[in-house]
Order: sequence, then C-alpha cells, then structure tokens
Amino acid sequence: MTEHVNDPFVQRAKTEGYRARAAYKLMEIDDKDKLIRPGMVVVDLGAAPGSWSQVAINRVGDNGRVFALDLLPMEPIHRVQFMQGDFHDEEFVQRFEALLEGRTVDLVMSDIAPNISGIPTSDQARSIYLAELALDFASQHLAPGGRFLVKVFQGQGFDEFRKQMEGVFRSVAVRKPQASRGRSSEVYLLGSGKRN
Ligand SMILES: C[S@@+](CC[C@H](N)C(=O)[O-])C[C@H]1O[C@@H](n2cnc3c(N)ncnc32)[C@H](O)[C@@H]1O
Repeated sequence: MTEHVNDPFVQRAKTEGYRARAAYKLMEIDDKDKLIRPGMVVVDLGAAPGSWSQVAINRVGDNGRVFALDLLPMEPIHRVQFMQGDFHDEEFVQRFEALLEGRTVDLVMSDIAPNISGIPTSDQARSIYLAELALDFASQHLAPGGRFLVKVFQGQGFDEFRKQMEGVFRSVAVRKPQASRGRSSEVYLLGSGKRN
C-alpha cells in the first residue's frame, strides 16, 4: 500500500487524469514502437479501469475508433465503445465482435490479467490461456500487417506462446516498460506485421 502511494507513476496518473498507472506502460511502448496512429481501429481487451483506452482514444483522434471489454464495469470514456463480460465466454465475445460491424482492426492490445489465486502454477496457466484467447481474437480480426500487444508472465508456457505468436506475426519483440520494472514477471510481447 505504501509502495503504491509513493509510486511516482501513481502520482503522475492522478495529476494527469489517467485512471491507472498502467497508462505509462502503454505510452512508453507506443512512443517507441509507434503503435497507435490517427484514424486507427483499436481493440482493448481487459480494459478496466480504462487508462489504456484513454491513451488510445486520444491518439487515434476523431477519425479513429476504440472498442473495449472487461469482466468489470468501466466508467464511460467519450467515444470508447465498451462491453462488460467474460473473455472466456464465446457467446459474449461474439456479441462484442458484432460491435465491429465487420471492420478489420489495426491494433489489438490485451492487458488482461486473471485474478491472482496465489497458486503460482495455476495463475501462470490461466494467464497464458487468456493470452492465447487474445492471440486467437487478434488472428481473426487484425488486418494484414496489423499489430498485437499482449501482457504475458514469464514462466511456464511463455516460450511456447511466443512461438505461437511467431506463426502469426512477421516479428515478435519483448517490451518491459519502466512502469512495470522491478514489480513482477510481467512483460509485453509485441507482434508486428500480421501475416495474411
Ligand atoms: C491490469 S488490469 C487492466 C488495466 C487497464 N489496461 C488500464 O489501463 O486501465 C487487467 C484487467 O483484466 C480484466 N480481466 C481479467 N480476466 C478477464 C476476463 N476473463 N475477461 C475480461 N476481462 C478480464 C480484469 O477485470 C482487469 O480489469
């Protein structure tokens, strides 16, 4: 708790109006890798409380679109289309996909993290499974050349998951932004150049 209060990213998020310190992870990756450009269609998986969606809607501008989902409710963000539900639930995912109205997506980003049970092997397996579902979603909806940013925890299943991503994207890079340093085994994998 004290760590959270003294965290410079938490302080900055408060001052700059972001809902979570996670905003700085996405901004750092985006500043380096130029993921989000005006006019893009972006999907935000595991979006609540909404800081990634805040960053994305600012950066896609008036001609872009952001579609977001989460298990938890999310306070509305102007021009972000949000749906609450479980990403494991196929019927829910189909209803979410209907929001896209057949558009292809330029960027799928997933910051989904399962609730931690405290049993490391089971937490790791659930996290990899959610990353696989996100990869599946990205494979189905990204335009050729599209990009996919996903949070993954290093541990069992990580190397296999990275290989799966290499089958879908021309390049896969590991990103560990400042705001996630020293905290956990989380890293972000960035797939670029979705194969046709
Ligand atoms: C680290 S938070 C995301 C923070 C967000 N990127 C932001 O900037 O505000 C992870 C989110 O994943 C969501 N999540 C976990 N399991 C999920 C599932 N099965 N379906 C949908 N969302 C899920 C959690 O509810 C949580 O809000």
